[in-house]
Parts: sequence; C-alpha cells; structure tokens
Amino acid sequence: MAEAAMAAPPDGDGDGDGDECLPRYRHLLCPDLLAGQVAFITGGGSGIGFRIAEIFMRHGCRTVIASRSLQRLAEASKKLVAATGQQCLPVSIDVRQPQSIAAAVDEALQEFKRIDILINGAAGNFLCPASALSFNAFKTVIDIDTMGTFNTSKVLFEKYFRDHGGIIVNITATLSYRGQALQVHAGAAKAAIEGAAGMAVLPVSHCCCNPSPEAMTRHLAVEWGPNKIRVNSLAPGPISGTEGFRRLGGKFAEQSKQFSAIPLQRAGNKTEIAHSALYLASPLSSYVTGTTLVVDGGSWLTSPNSFSALLDVWAAGANQPH
Ligand code: HXC
Ligand code: NAP
Repeated sequence: MAEAAMAAPPDGDGDGDGDECLPRYRHLLCPDLLAGQVAFITGGGSGIGFRIAEIFMRHGCRTVIASRSLQRLAEASKKLVAATGQQCLPVSIDVRQPQSIAAAVDEALQEFKRIDILINGAAGNFLCPASALSFNAFKTVIDIDTMGTFNTSKVLFEKYFRDHGGIIVNITATLSYRGQALQVHAGAAKAAIEGAAGMAVLPVSHCCCNPSPEAMTRHLAVEWGPNKIRVNSLAPGPISGTEGFRRLGGKFAEQSKQFSAIPLQRAGNKTEIAHSALYLASPLSSYVTGTTLVVDGGSWLTSPNSFSALLDVWAAGANQPH
C-alpha cells in the first residue's frame, strides 16, 4: 500500500451522506472474519450503526438492528441484505425500556439461536448551552446514552453472554476529554460509559485528577471478564454523512476550514468507524478489554472548542433533526 494511503479513508468516495450501502467494497481483512456470528446493533438502522452492520455482514456476520423506528429499520435491513447476502433482523426497541430490549433479544435468539456481539450505538444529541437546557433534556440524553447502554448490556448478559461469553463495543465520544461547549448533556452521558480515556495518555501525576469513577466500560470489563466477555469503547471524532455531524455543526466546521486543525486534516467517515468496530468485535482483539479506541484522526488533541462559534451554529438551527 502506498505511504499516503495509510492515512487516507478506504472507499472514502462512496461513503455517502445517506444510509446507503457502499457502492463498492474491497476487503482489507479476511471476508469470513465474523463467519457464523451474530451481532446485535442498537442504532443499527442509520449512520454509523448502519455502516457497522454492513461491514460486519460483509465479513460473514448476521445482524440484528435495533432502534425505535421499525419502518426505518425495515428499509435498512432490506438494503443490507441486498448488498451483502447475509441475514438481518430488524427489531423495535427503546433502550430506555428494558422490557422492550428483553423482547427483542428473545426474538433475536429465537431467530438466530445465538448472539456473539453487542454494539451499543443508540444515542441522542443536539447542541444546546447548559443555561438553555431543560432538566428533562439533560435527563433524556443520559437515559438514552448511559442508561440505554447499561440496560442493553445487562439484558444481553442475563439472556446469553453470562453463559456463552460475548463482546460488547460501546460507541462513545471524545466530548468530555476537553469539556466541549454546548455538549454538557452528551459529554456527561458518554463519559459515564467510557471514563476519560484520553487522560490515560497524560503523565501519571495528572491521572490522579481523572474524574471517572463511573466508567461503565471498565467496571463491566472487570466484572464480566471471567465470563469471557470483553467490553471496550470506541470513541469517534467528527464523522461525515451522519446525523451527529449534521446536528453538531460539522458542515460549519468543514466550510470554515476547521478540520485543517485536526492532525489528519479531515473528518472521518463511517467506514473507518466500522473497521475499528470490526477490530474490537473480532478475534484480532482477543486480549483487549476495558479500554477505549479513539478513532478521530487526532482531533480531540488539537481541534478548536469555541463557545461563540458553537453558539452561532446553535442559533442558526443546525441541531434540528434532518
Ligand atoms: C434543546 C431539546 C432539543 C434540542 C429536544 N430537547 N431536542 N432541547 N435542544 N434540540 C428537549 C425537549 O424539549 C424535551 O425537554 C427533552 O429534550 C426530550 O425531548 P423529546 O423530543 O421528548 O425526546 P425524545 O423523543 O425521546 O427524543 C430524544 C432526542 C431526539 C435526543 C431529543 O433528538 C432523538 O431522538 N435523537 C436521536 C437521533 C440523534 O440524536 N442522533 C445524533 C446522535 S449524534 P422538555 O423540558 O421540553 O420536556 C451523537 C454525537 C456525539 O450522539 C458526539 C459527536 C462528536
Ligand atoms: P444516528 O444515525 O442518529 O444514530 C443514533 C441511533 O440511535 C439512531 O439509529 C436512532 O434510531 C437510535 N436511537 C436513538 N434513541 C434511541 C432509543 N431511545 N432507543 C433505541 N434507539 C435509539 O447518529 P450517528 O451520528 O450515526 O451516531 C451513532 C453513534 O455514534 C452514537 O452513539 C453517537 O453518539 C456516536 N458518535 C457519532 C459521532 C458523529 O460524528 N456522528 C461522533 C462521536 C460519536 P431511532 O430514531 O430509530 O430510534
């Protein structure tokens, strides 16, 4: 592979803005890497979760894609099956409601008889200054991101992983590493899942200040390791062609050349996140647990965190759903 290609996005041109499968795909890893396995992917009907489902299926995995909108999931499932030839079961859940998760996991086990991988990708987010954020808005994001990750992990543990082992990958974010403006709700919600992983790169003298006693990934990795369950987080940076990118001012950042501050000088794409999830969900990472893989082109180290610029993006309504 040419040297420049090492930091270039694979199949970057075809990654697209919508929830479509890649028009072409060249395997970088063995196509049967996940053969015979089943992945349960919350948020699998759109954005990053959709691409994770696609890439897993292109590596021999069957998938269950789970979120609230069954109609969107059904459409996504059709596309995924057509592009990959693998099975994909759409199931409706609200990760805030454990009974809905339990029913979906029962349905998935009935259909596939096994679940090997859980991707916790469901999330809710929008730009909002803390002063304008209602109490219920903060709670809603905590309920979806933090509680939803715990609820789904616990249901999977009780129904299957406790006795068979498994792999959990929590999709988090780097927001809390530097206290991103207008993001106290999502930053707090994701930090509870992951802990301040970025702090691990600081000298030991700084680590004693690491305020992350409630890092779900580490707690569950420790507690469930003896059950042969690996638990890791994957923290994406700004990923183009996603709802998160649209809501959090990605277009503005692109237009105002802010991505030139990122060491790799660009936003990431969905396929790059899916490839990193594939690593964490496969035997390639068989001795990796309790950690966070930051996939952001070095973004959190150098990117601007401008309160006033983000206020402008917020005022312009970028956080409204598309
Ligand atoms: C301020 C808002 C708001 C907004 C909703 N609320 N949207 N407050 N700005 N844009 C408030 C509401 O007024 C309400 O509070 C409370 O939040 C709950 O709103 P509901 O609409 O009732 O909630 P719900 O229907 O459960 O929807 C959840 C949602 C919604 C998060 C608000 O946007 C959603 O379903 N999002 C899923 C898709 C998504 O967000 N994708 C992007 C993920 S990107 P009151 O007080 O009025 O009752 C991501 C990126 C992370 O996570 C990191 C990037 C770097
Ligand atoms: P997205 O397409 O909006 O993904 C969020 C998914 O969560 C949707 O499929 C949504 O489907 C589902 N969801 C929301 N609330 C739910 C609930 N209560 N119960 C079940 N499912 C629910 O956005 P995305 O940008 O691709 O984000 C995917 C993941 O990557 C998220 O965890 C996000 O925090 C993370 N992330 C994204 C970026 C980025 O730049 N995009 C950066 C860092 C981290 P329904 O509406 O059908 O429920």
